[in-house]
Amino acid sequence: MKPIKVGLLGFGTVGTGVVRIVEGHQEDLQRQTGAPIEVAKVLVRDLEKQRNLRISSDLVTANPWEVIRNPEIDVVVEVMGGIEPTKGYILEALEQGKHVVTANKDLMALHGPEILAKAAEKGCDVFYEASVAGGIPIIRTLIEGFSSDRITKIMGIVNGTTNYILSKMSQEGADYAEVLAEAQKLGYAESDPTSDVEGLDAARKMTILATLGFHSKVALSDVSVKGISNVSKEDILYGKKLGYEVKLLGIAERKDDSISVSVQPTMVKMSHPLATVNGVFNAVYVYGEAVGETMFYGPGAGELPTATSVVADLVRVGKNMGLGVAGRSGLMAYKEKKLKSDEE
Ligand code: NDP
Ligand code: HSE
Repeated sequence: MKPIKVGLLGFGTVGTGVVRIVEGHQEDLQRQTGAPIEVAKVLVRDLEKQRNLRISSDLVTANPWEVIRNPEIDVVVEVMGGIEPTKGYILEALEQGKHVVTANKDLMALHGPEILAKAAEKGCDVFYEASVAGGIPIIRTLIEGFSSDRITKIMGIVNGTTNYILSKMSQEGADYAEVLAEAQKLGYAESDPTSDVEGLDAARKMTILATLGFHSKVALSDVSVKGISNVSKEDILYGKKLGYEVKLLGIAERKDDSISVSVQPTMVKMSHPLATVNGVFNAVYVYGEAVGETMFYGPGAGELPTATSVVADLVRVGKNMGLGVAGRSGLMAYKEKKLKSDEE
């Protein structure tokens, strides 16, 4: 049986997890896709770096074209991060007719429409479940699970690093800088953690969720953003005395035809379920006119939780390839509709 050949762009925290899951769950994956999944090439930046390789060193390259333009490769899995050169690599992979799975919220929040348009033009799949809330399958849930409803609000904790920091500061009186360093060591934080602590990472994720949940094109520049770098231990202790936990909340709401999206540290009543979401965990509330209130909870970052979402996308591509519907499932599509504020 012809294997589904995967080219990995990046072999850091998430890339390592992808290889571990593909290897460890191969039998179950194959039962779903009907063909083995094989990691055929892996792109890294630094060939000299010491790595705990789970693949043959022959597969590792620092030449992106050996992955992107490799005729053997069916699916490119992008887990290297950043906007450039990543965007160029993904567009070229699509140009070459390869399906793409990515965990890159920076890219999808800013250039998602262009990438999805290119995929549609070339008849390729692009999936990006891991880009929001790590191991929680919230993107698929919004697109498929709530397709029948009218979502009015999406609210939640969508950054694991900041929730880890705030929880440790609240529960252990830990020092901000020390816990941030811990989150970096655990592989939760972005390569530049400024985007975590200043709320940008959460803003990118809320842009993606609002775009999909409201079937509208929400621009990152329309999101009002405030991070946690100015939240002190004293603020947290004061909140606790009053019966609140400080959480970095993303809130996306639509009223009539206008949409507002914000990210900011918020006092959450201790009786509210979001106040009990601790550590690297994320939680997303989705309010639908018909369904009412729902909540999704799980690990928001880290090697295996994130790789679970990446590999689930890979399975989806494999199934689509088997069914001959890759690039035509329309799973990630939305109709372009500008925010009211843009039109005025
Ligand atoms: P890491 O920094 O751990 O790994 C990045 C990998 O990409 C490294 O192997 C690095 O190579 C390689 N790389 C980076 N830039 C280049 C380049 N220009 N050319 C070639 N290779 C390059 O990142 P993560 O695994 O943590 O994150 C990857 C992506 O997943 C990011 O988009 C991130 O936002 C997203 N994500 C991460 C989560 C997490 O919990 N970590 C959760 C959800 C999403 P080298 O090893 O040689 O340095
Ligand atoms: N840095 C991100 C976080 C990774 O802490 O949530 C997951 O997207």
